[in-house]
Amino acid sequence: MKREVIETADGSNTIYIPEMSENYHSYHGALQEAQHVFIKNGLQLFKEKKEVHIFEMGFGTGLNALLSMVEGNRVNQKIFYTGIEAFPLEMEIIQKIGYESFVDNEFNKSFKEMHLSKWDQKHTFSDTFSFEKIHAKIQDYAVLEDTKDLVYFDAFGPRAQEEIWGISILEKMHRILKPGGVFVTYCAKGQVKRDLKSLGFELEILEGPPGKREMTRAIKSRHIS
Ligand SMILES: C[S@@+](CC[C@H](N)C(=O)[O-])C[C@H]1O[C@@H](n2cnc3c(N)ncnc32)[C@H](O)[C@@H]1O
Repeated sequence: MKREVIETADGSNTIYIPEMSENYHSYHGALQEAQHVFIKNGLQLFKEKKEVHIFEMGFGTGLNALLSMVEGNRVNQKIFYTGIEAFPLEMEIIQKIGYESFVDNEFNKSFKEMHLSKWDQKHTFSDTFSFEKIHAKIQDYAVLEDTKDLVYFDAFGPRAQEEIWGISILEKMHRILKPGGVFVTYCAKGQVKRDLKSLGFELEILEGPPGKREMTRAIKSRHIS
């Protein structure tokens, strides 16, 4: 599949896939979108917790993992990060994207290690960041129930990949979360919101990142239904 590195409105790069007419991030700003949806409206909800267990659907360029590592370090919180990816990117394209230029030098080595690290193994990069990437399709992945505090759902959009947004994958994400756990996504499509609700999530419709009206945050109920 052909992949092109393109610049987005905030000066950060993303990948464009001509075959799918799809970007990895918003062309209104890749970095701003990741920071707004996943860090500000996801990870920062847990700022009082000593440890946060995160699952990312669609590890891709590793941007969300990088920003989570920086945030965990900033607030001295241990992040246990698991990202699943079916179609890994070559190191050459990661270097071309250049996300490490947006963070302090001290994180550059870990970001590179993240990409070079072996799949399906746990790695510790610092006192506050542990990491595992899983090379599999989300459809085939058997989740461990009630193990994660936070899900970053960062699949391609429903138009490009409808099957990933169907209720069976969303139900997996519900199962992997602990009671009170949080699911965040940039998507605010009606059907997705209805499916999340039907699974027992409590929904919050929040202001979207630049260029998008809304985004979705869904909380797994603490009560057994
Ligand atoms: C919108 S991109 C976002 C990537 C990443 N979060 C980032 O910031 O670069 C979606 C990612 O999901 C991956 N993906 C697509 N289908 C998948 C599947 N069935 N299972 C796991 N990952 C998948 C793609 O390869 C891509 O890396």
